[in-house]
Amino acid sequence: MHLEFRSGEKARCKVAGVDVMRIIIATIFPDFVKVVKEYGVLAQAVEKGKIDIQILNLRDFTHDRHRIVDDYPYGGGPGMVMKPEPFFELHEYCKQVFGELYTVLTSPQGITLNNKLAVELSKKENLLILCGRYEGIDERVKKLVDLEVSIGDYVLSGGELAAMVICDAVSRFVPGVVEEESVKRDSFYNDLLDHPHYTRPAEYKGLRVPEVLLSGDHGMVELWRTAESLKLTALRRPDLFLSREFSTQEKKALVWLIQELVKHAERCEGSSDPLSSSGERW
Ligand code: ADE
Repeated sequence: MHLEFRSGEKARCKVAGVDVMRIIIATIFPDFVKVVKEYGVLAQAVEKGKIDIQILNLRDFTHDRHRIVDDYPYGGGPGMVMKPEPFFELHEYCKQVFGELYTVLTSPQGITLNNKLAVELSKKENLLILCGRYEGIDERVKKLVDLEVSIGDYVLSGGELAAMVICDAVSRFVPGVVEEESVKRDSFYNDLLDHPHYTRPAEYKGLRVPEVLLSGDHGMVELWRTAESLKLTALRRPDLFLSREFSTQEKKALVWLIQELVKHAERCEGSSDPLSSSGERW
């Protein structure tokens, strides 16, 4: 067995005396999954000790020479089924080494991941994600599982990509992993889609950055961003827009947006094609 921890004393991950969230991914493809903690924001968070990500190989919890993790299905049929024993042994090992676990099984039959669920999962001290493979997983494994999670209505060839998506989405809500301000501005935080972003140059191939962003007027920039978020949400996610309780700033942004639309319409009066006449993006 190639395991970083030994059972016995609980391996608590602490930074300045504070317990840090740990995500443990159980897979038969550890090399595939490990990239989730090797790049970008997550790599920095691991490096700074903001989060601990452990990747465990299910084959390390087999006892035969060939480290077999699957077997033929009872009752016949195509494909193989993942055996229960490696999952149970891995789960027991994690309990002994890390302590209390919240266990998720990746599955297209699970509840669909969204930001709200990611926030909830980010509060768990030890989140164990079990990756399924092949045609299925022995049903008895579900005795270990607190929640089955899907990442969308499509079928992947295995749970590894789903586990990586869950790990990334959850990590963003662990304090210190991403700047709190960035998380708040992300799409879906607060049930609004994100506003557009621009960087230099101010003009590229004839496409100009909206003047308001160059104005230095922070109040107007905030109003524009809120208006753009609301506009995009109304267009692409009317379900979110229509069920929204608008804040004062959002109401102000909506009024401003309508005023801008009226001004735009007045400027275009007399033109046969008002929207394309000025080439302007309000
Ligand atoms: N395994 C296969 N497809 C999946 C999906 N859509 N979500 C989570 N796990 C999966």
